[in-house]
Amino acid sequence: MSERINELNRRRTFAIISHPDAGKTTLTEKLLLFGGAIQIAGAVKSKKTDKAATSDFMEIERQRGISVATSVMGFEYNKRKVNILDTPGHQDFSEDTYRTLTAVDSAIMVIDCVKGVEPQTEKLAEVCRMRNTPIITFINKMDREGQDPFDLLDELEQKLNIKVKPLSWPIGIGKTFQGVYNISENKLVLFQSHTKQSKDNSLTFDNIHDEALDKVIGKKEADLLREEVEMVEGVYPKFDLEAYREAGICPVFFGSALNNFGVKELLDCFVDIAPPPQARETGLRLVKPEESKFSGFVFKIHANMNPKHRDRIAFVRICSGMFERNKNYLHVRLDKQFKYSSPTAFLAQDKEIVDVAYPGDIIGLHDTGNFRIGDTLTEGEKFFYKGIPSFSPELFKSIVNRDPSKTKQLNKGIEQLMDEGVAQLFTNHLDQRKVIGAVGQLQFEVIQHRLLNEYGASCEFENVDVYKACWIDSDDTSKLEEFVRLKKGQIATDKHGQYVFLAPSQWILNVVKEDFPDLNFAFTSEIQNFNLAE
Ligand code: G4P
Repeated sequence: MSERINELNRRRTFAIISHPDAGKTTLTEKLLLFGGAIQIAGAVKSKKTDKAATSDFMEIERQRGISVATSVMGFEYNKRKVNILDTPGHQDFSEDTYRTLTAVDSAIMVIDCVKGVEPQTEKLAEVCRMRNTPIITFINKMDREGQDPFDLLDELEQKLNIKVKPLSWPIGIGKTFQGVYNISENKLVLFQSHTKQSKDNSLTFDNIHDEALDKVIGKKEADLLREEVEMVEGVYPKFDLEAYREAGICPVFFGSALNNFGVKELLDCFVDIAPPPQARETGLRLVKPEESKFSGFVFKIHANMNPKHRDRIAFVRICSGMFERNKNYLHVRLDKQFKYSSPTAFLAQDKEIVDVAYPGDIIGLHDTGNFRIGDTLTEGEKFFYKGIPSFSPELFKSIVNRDPSKTKQLNKGIEQLMDEGVAQLFTNHLDQRKVIGAVGQLQFEVIQHRLLNEYGASCEFENVDVYKACWIDSDDTSKLEEFVRLKKGQIATDKHGQYVFLAPSQWILNVVKEDFPDLNFAFTSEIQNFNLAE
């Protein structure tokens, strides 16, 4: 097998998804410790500052700072190259998370055993389901008085619409938590808090009926465990690798990230079963990772934290072939060749210049404004990777320029921030008014703050009467044109020039849908290149 194929087969690229506070950062850190990527806990995220005392701007800068440092964390483990892609914690930046999920091959979902499935978990799991991304679940904080494990599994199945398969089973919970029993290996791992850990805390038994188990955890507890494991075996299907990789079944582990308990078992299983880089759809054809020609796409753009330097890093997911430093590649949207002299790879918190990178890897390319999210690089073939979604925002405001002498800077700033995917821009068809669509209030604050600090442009936001943005199209272009003409006050174009109907209310949306049956109204749009045909 060629070195390239070997290299790509050992890549495991994934994201950790969770509702804020479930333990994503703690788990990431413990995984990095096992991977030898960091030496001490607390290195990933500086100790949380008192949230109540932190202004929103500090929070923005803090999040930006952290996310550039920890956007991608790579390490070696059991002959695998593991790449963890970080996702922002704050839900106002959830669009960023959705886009990051387009660049992974699988996900680990962290659930707080006290709180169960939370709203953000539901949304993220939905995105994974849409993309058939396989998920492993880690039920965290077992040292706390959480919910009954069967109830938690039922909740996972019902709220997330997935089939689960516990691979380990907890003995007790909270104060009575003694450890977990690995069902297939008949191995008991005894819980020890992180303050008093020794290496040998696992015991293997002939089977679950082994009387030696009674001596270790107590007869009553052992009998209960036997009963529960029997139920688990009866209720849930056998673990099937293919079903997991096709996102048909979700293996579940129990543990405590803070106490570094159950994390090694999770990582060992992850590197064993998680899928290597997968084939990806483009507008033209399915591209397989083992193809010899390089291709990849931009899923994230990060501006320099120093406002004096307006350069950016474009994060590229490599999908096929091999990326080489100083080689010319086609930037498909611009139809131009570029070469990159200092592509960076990410190792824990360090960046280093690399000469080659393989499918599954994420590289950072220095960008002076040529990239947009969704851009594709190839060795010459003209296609775009599909599936990078633009979601209909929840909040809409129009931008008002407060300093006409800085109009140019304002426009430039808006354009660049939108390329980065900070929020979405809709330009009104009739009067060219700029309407920003966002998921959370914090995004407006980020825009205002960054326009002023990085571009010297001052702006304000005004409320607009928009309930939803619907991307519209039709097989019958005359019907589409007629609609645009009739509703011109409520028609805008997005960044790619696609028509969007800014519906003032659900009621009006229902009426126009009935009046124009030949039109499609969509709440999401795929970021694509609409200039390709030009
Ligand atoms: P997030 O990235 O998903 O937002 O969560 P994070 O890891 O920051 O964890 C949120 C809180 O939950 C942290 O406490 C963390 O210490 C705690 N935690 C994580 N895993 C466990 C666990 O297994 N057991 C228990 N009991 N707690 C856990 P914090 O007080 O908010 O922050 P800190 O002061 O400890 O950093």
